[in-house]
Amino acid sequence: MYFYLLYFAVASKEFTEADFEELLEQARSRNAFLDITGKLLHCEGTFIQLLEGNKAAVKEVYESIVKDQRLIAIKTMATGHAEERYYSNWSMDFKEVSLAELNKLENCAHEDVAAYIKNASAVKLLKLLAKA
Ligand SMILES: Cc1cc2nc3c(=O)[nH]c(=O)nc-3n(C[C@H](O)[C@H](O)[C@H](O)COP(=O)(O)O)c2cc1C
Repeated sequence: MYFYLLYFAVASKEFTEADFEELLEQARSRNAFLDITGKLLHCEGTFIQLLEGNKAAVKEVYESIVKDQRLIAIKTMATGHAEERYYSNWSMDFKEVSLAELNKLENCAHEDVAAYIKNASAVKLLKLLAKA
């Protein structure tokens, strides 16, 4: 059994390519050490992330993320247990999508990504993570 946690958050500043590289390097090495897997999606300053692994390890990392100055308005969307990991091959898969790509994936015409994500259900966000 694995514990999972899904959240979304808004970036407190604009991320550059170098910022993403630094973030992923740090996240992947800590996740590998703690046997955490998952996926991170970024669209127009909003992040959606699924963390999965041992419950204590996921909570430990999430506590760090909640305190991270690079994020504001973080909200837990879902937690639970699952038999299998969705992203067993990834210490943290990462995808960046533009607003146009997100609208294509969702077959919609959202103008405000943060508002859309804030109002979406956890199931919808999980599906979006998988599709992106
Ligand atoms: C959007 C976002 C996603 C992150 N994801 C992870 C992650 O999956 N694993 C991780 O160890 N750190 C992740 N971090 C970094 C943590 O917030 C934190 O900086 C890092 O784990 C070091 O923790 P510490 O400051 O408590 O030592 C993420 C940060 C951001 C902004």
